[in-house]
Amino acid sequence: MVISHPQTLTLQPIENGAPSDDVRAFRRTLGQFATGITVITTNTGEKLTGMTANSFTAVSLDPPLVLWSIRKESGSLAAFLESGHFSINILAENQNTVSEIFGRPRDEQFSQVEWIPGKFGAPLFPGSIAHLECETHEVIDAGDHHILIGRVDNYARFEGKPLLFSQGQFGVPTAFLESPQPAPAAGDPRLDLDNEQTIFMSLLKAANQQMSQLFQEHRHQVGVTVATGRVLNQLTVRADNVEDLGRVAFLGENTVEDALIELAGQNLVAPQAEGKWAITAPGLEVQAALRRSAAEFNAQQLRDIPVEDLAAAQRVLRTLINREFNSESENK
Ligand SMILES: Cc1cc2nc3c(=O)[nH]c(=O)nc-3n(C[C@H](O)[C@H](O)[C@H](O)COP(=O)(O)O)c2cc1C
Repeated sequence: MVISHPQTLTLQPIENGAPSDDVRAFRRTLGQFATGITVITTNTGEKLTGMTANSFTAVSLDPPLVLWSIRKESGSLAAFLESGHFSINILAENQNTVSEIFGRPRDEQFSQVEWIPGKFGAPLFPGSIAHLECETHEVIDAGDHHILIGRVDNYARFEGKPLLFSQGQFGVPTAFLESPQPAPAAGDPRLDLDNEQTIFMSLLKAANQQMSQLFQEHRHQVGVTVATGRVLNQLTVRADNVEDLGRVAFLGENTVEDALIELAGQNLVAPQAEGKWAITAPGLEVQAALRRSAAEFNAQQLRDIPVEDLAAAQRVLRTLINREFNSESENK
């Protein structure tokens, strides 16, 4: 039996072909697979090495083996081959800065993060949701990468949610909403629990999910992707380079580059000196049109809600948002 849903059934690929025809398109296709993010560290004597990697995969429980792959051209390869051990830090949802620090070569990486030495001396980052301390079990030559298989000597799991990476975007996990329960009958003791506060939180989540979905469809209709939309938006603020655009827009650098190539092809952005990119005059017009269309989308969604209800909803949402900031600062 074939189960299909009219909205999700897409027979026409966005792009396809042999990987050698278009390497960027091939990489985007691989990016359809969602992963977490790790920073893998090692030490050779006093010298510390670390790099962001999303190629991490669990392999075997007995013996306990994991793997990841490292580019042969990576400046970090020699250290990982020499040391014979590595530590895997599985990043938490609020550690995107750590991912960024170790996501490209730069100086003084370890002075920018808090770390402690693990069993073999390789740095472990407090705040990660798991640590796996490994001895290098096998190194496999695989195309332009080496696969490093590690035998896990020691692990630790911590409270928290993972930082995610998929389709070139950094993200945080959202669980499916629970299916709605049938309303309890009058006199049922569960009726007390199902009070307005718990219903309110469920409604808030459902409304958020519904609006995000609708906005995604809207964006698709006006011919903008998350990446092209965010890059264009950022460039209206100031000319920027790929690295900084990725950081502010929570996008991987390859994705930013793909977006810039697409936008440059439409003459909406143009390269500047020192690796920076700027929005063009036609780009500013398109951006203004996109803003207007987003405002129309908003107006359409809120069209039949009385003004006083909207004002009340905004007050409630602002209170909840401020409460979160307050309780965060109270905990510090
Ligand atoms: C989200 C993300 C995932 C990455 N995954 C890998 C990976 O699995 N393997 C790899 O070799 N490089 C990966 N990189 C790139 C390395 O982090 C980057 O090349 C390295 O930090 C730069 O130092 P190097 O010159 O020592 O390679 C990734 C980068 C990012 C931002």
